[in-house]
Amino acid sequence: MRKRLFSGIQPNGSIHLGNYLGAIRNWVNLQDEDDCLFCIVDLHAITIDRNPEVLRKEIRETAGILLACGIDPEKSTLFVQSNVCAHSEMTWIINCFTPFGWLNRMTQFKEKSKDHQKDVSVGLFDYPVLMASDILLYKTDLVAVGEDQKQHLEFTRNIAQRINSIYGDMFVIPEPLIPNNGARIMGLHDPTRKMSKSEAGKYHAINMLDPPEEIRYKIMRAQTDSDRRISFDRARSGIFNLITIYECLSGSTREEIEKSFNGMGYEEFKEELSVLISETLKPIQARYRKIMENPDDIDVILIDGADRASAMAGPVLFEFKDRIGLW
Ligand code: AQP
Repeated sequence: MRKRLFSGIQPNGSIHLGNYLGAIRNWVNLQDEDDCLFCIVDLHAITIDRNPEVLRKEIRETAGILLACGIDPEKSTLFVQSNVCAHSEMTWIINCFTPFGWLNRMTQFKEKSKDHQKDVSVGLFDYPVLMASDILLYKTDLVAVGEDQKQHLEFTRNIAQRINSIYGDMFVIPEPLIPNNGARIMGLHDPTRKMSKSEAGKYHAINMLDPPEEIRYKIMRAQTDSDRRISFDRARSGIFNLITIYECLSGSTREEIEKSFNGMGYEEFKEELSVLISETLKPIQARYRKIMENPDDIDVILIDGADRASAMAGPVLFEFKDRIGLW
């Protein structure tokens, strides 16, 4: 039986190779097996940045990248979170079932509030409840995410179990779907931090629209170490991250990769990796350029997606409100 799958991506900056390897690439593959909803989570994006022009542009660009990567609106429901009001309403109700202490334990909030000390909103603190609402609203079986979202998903499961223990089997308890390879791609200039859209460093991430010369420049500058061996050694986080990217994109086994680079230096390896990344991104970039020639077509896809998502979310919200006793 087809399972219901939900995943989200924030329209808050350039989509990068970490998003692609940890999430989008798998979403594309799952479309044939599962009943997939892919959501551009703009309500999450405003927990930190609130520039209307930039946000509007990035919503469209995010949709363009997803379509260019192979998300097919005939097979999946692609939509913008704020176009389906049920997400916000569900969030308020779930807030009322969420112990404050549970949110206080979320590590992503602790990290992000350090980075944005002057602008820590209640919304940023409440981010995991909005994410739980996104997922539970569709009676989701599977959530395809990178490793960074593991704690939030555990939180979602706990909330669903708590509500079910009061009102009977209201929600499906969702399972995480985390890829074996590429679940946590790290930053290039600091391989102790995950590659992220919100990280400011110029050489931190390979963006999906980077041209080959920029990809090469960033990879050649990526942090490594003085040990020249090219191997899967977690203790050497810089080279481990680069060789993991190579593994994800080449499809070769770890043994094959270590064997083929045996005796080579970092420079030669980095040259090959740059070419591999550029070649992978080239067709996606070409499709993206074509898609962006007709932005109105993107809007039609997103509006249709929101209609379909609303039709799924509405009855679940109605049922939940009814069980609680809301009118
Ligand atoms: N570095 C990563 N490696 C593997 N997967 C990743 N994901 C994000 N970063 C990596 C996965 O991509 C999907 C979209 O996540 P996002 O929109 O939250 O992207 P982000 O780059 O993580 O953006 P931010 O602003 O830095 O957001 P935070 O820090 O809030 O997550 C998700 O499935 C995610 O797991």
